[in-house]
Amino acid sequence: MCGIVGYVGKRSACDILVSGLRRLEYRGYDSAGVALLTQGGGLEVVKQTGKVAALEARLSETVAAEARAGACAGIAHTRWATHGLPTEANAHPHLADGGRLALVHNGIIENYAALRRQLEARGCVFVSQTDTEVLAHLVATFDAGDLLAAVSQALKRVEGTYGVAVVSTRYPGQLVVARRGSPLVIGLGEGETIVASDVSAIVSHTRQVVYLQDGDVARVAAGGAQIYTLDQAVVDREVSCVEWEIGAAEKSGYEHFMLKEIFEQPAALQNAIRGRLDPVLGTALLSGLNLGPRELASIRRLVIVACGTSLHAGMVGKYLFEGLADMPTDPEQAAEFRYCNPILGADDLVVAISQSGETADTLAAVREGIQKGALVAGLCNVVGSTIAREAGRGVYLHAGPEIGVASTKAFTAQVTVLLMMALKLGRCRRLSREAGLTLCEEIAALPGKVEAVLAQNDAIAAVAAKYAGAENAFFIGRGILYPTALEGALKLKEISYIHAEGYQAAELKHGPIALLDERMPVIALLNDIPGKEKTLGNVQECRARRAPVLGLVTEDDEEAARMVCDTIRLPRTSAYTAPVVTAVALQLLSYHVARLRGCEIDQPRNLAKSVTVE
Ligand code: M6R
Repeated sequence: MCGIVGYVGKRSACDILVSGLRRLEYRGYDSAGVALLTQGGGLEVVKQTGKVAALEARLSETVAAEARAGACAGIAHTRWATHGLPTEANAHPHLADGGRLALVHNGIIENYAALRRQLEARGCVFVSQTDTEVLAHLVATFDAGDLLAAVSQALKRVEGTYGVAVVSTRYPGQLVVARRGSPLVIGLGEGETIVASDVSAIVSHTRQVVYLQDGDVARVAAGGAQIYTLDQAVVDREVSCVEWEIGAAEKSGYEHFMLKEIFEQPAALQNAIRGRLDPVLGTALLSGLNLGPRELASIRRLVIVACGTSLHAGMVGKYLFEGLADMPTDPEQAAEFRYCNPILGADDLVVAISQSGETADTLAAVREGIQKGALVAGLCNVVGSTIAREAGRGVYLHAGPEIGVASTKAFTAQVTVLLMMALKLGRCRRLSREAGLTLCEEIAALPGKVEAVLAQNDAIAAVAAKYAGAENAFFIGRGILYPTALEGALKLKEISYIHAEGYQAAELKHGPIALLDERMPVIALLNDIPGKEKTLGNVQECRARRAPVLGLVTEDDEEAARMVCDTIRLPRTSAYTAPVVTAVALQLLSYHVARLRGCEIDQPRNLAKSVTVE
């Protein structure tokens, strides 16, 4: 989604802002802009549709080199259009106070229409269709000599969500930033302060950061930041140290972040598993859940809330929790959950799964769960993210930063963590120590099994070439492999723009089979686990309609291999670990198809890495 960067210090704000925007490109955007407070006391604003590279070129053309080098404070933004087309006029920063004040904003101002009417009645002239421009004028209206007070007054009048950064020529050497529902981080450097919506824009400058919390507003200067409530009471926020290396946010020789992250999976899973398996009791140690055996044993139902790929991981979780822990489990799309007035009680555990920890609908579902008195746990990758903090208990994935918009290593880490949770819950119930120990071994073996899939990369690329021309595709799976079929279809459509659908294998003949012919490839998940024979029957039905079938089969399963047109070979696993290895093969398949079709793999059209609006 949209990205914010702000800088105040001694160096060229222009360079730091532009390089920060580059770091945020992965989040998805359609236009970008910069506002620089120049040494001469002016404001240079440049906006551009398209990529940050185009903005940079425009800056060089329109702002003199000395002005760019001399500006030591400014704000910048990448916009993912919500209100109004991705045009230059709608790009941020938005201006007010006769061009003296500039503001960038992530989120949505829900009462913008009413506010705009009021401001227009007072003579404000609007030049964009955005909700954000309202905020810029509102701040200017309240400015009586203190920018922080003006921003606070303005924000008290808005409904909706925001991460904002504001500069004004009336207040050189300072930025004012604030958040509600949209992340903002302040990086504390040596004689400089960098603000961003995501630490990846900060980490090359400093590792000392402060995560703003909802309702915070801060005055940011070169020497640091002072944080307040909107009522001007000083608040203290902890300084945290960002642990990941800058290299984790770089491609390190890979053509795309997605490919790098696919190949990082053995290490990501190792990190997710490390120190969490108990080889004596045959259980898992998940201290962040903060639930003892008695409390775990008294949970009656799990409700998993998530969106997109994380929801698919949650759907795998249903098979894990019900199979290993006899625990009724309902995976719910988070937006549907939040609006359905869910029936929840004190013996329900709501598990919110979110790579980013910032997805608006999943966050709202967490709040609904807390409100209704259920236990709530977060499964997040981003440390310190809003969902992780608000849930109060949970398990971090430790998969490392995921930059590619298409989620890969987060999915396999989510499934692995869910497997450990199911093991732990199961051991508090009917799962025997022996069965627990076997599962511990299977989980520990997962990184190696994933290595074996990655070793098939060339073979998968060759198969991908045969299917890259398709315009539609079906993915079929049964039981625990059904959510993996959904995930395979999602990956393919996201990055290759091929229309793809995932189905329970048995569902095909209840309608979708009508679409089968020689132009409709079917990707069949045929791992040698219970249910395979039945899916092979469905494969026959597909081939009888001349659909080309690509089978994902267990490495030594020649019977299954003979029944399909092409194969991708997978290592032998149990049913519980099959989704992980299968997902990795499907990620590679989608990646190679998209590459052959010349798609923009790391920033697919219309998509955003973290969906912070409803
Ligand atoms: O950060 P989250 O896990 O909450 O994100 C949820 C979805 O937006 C995300 O998984 C999305 O579906 C990805 N583009 C999938 O590749």
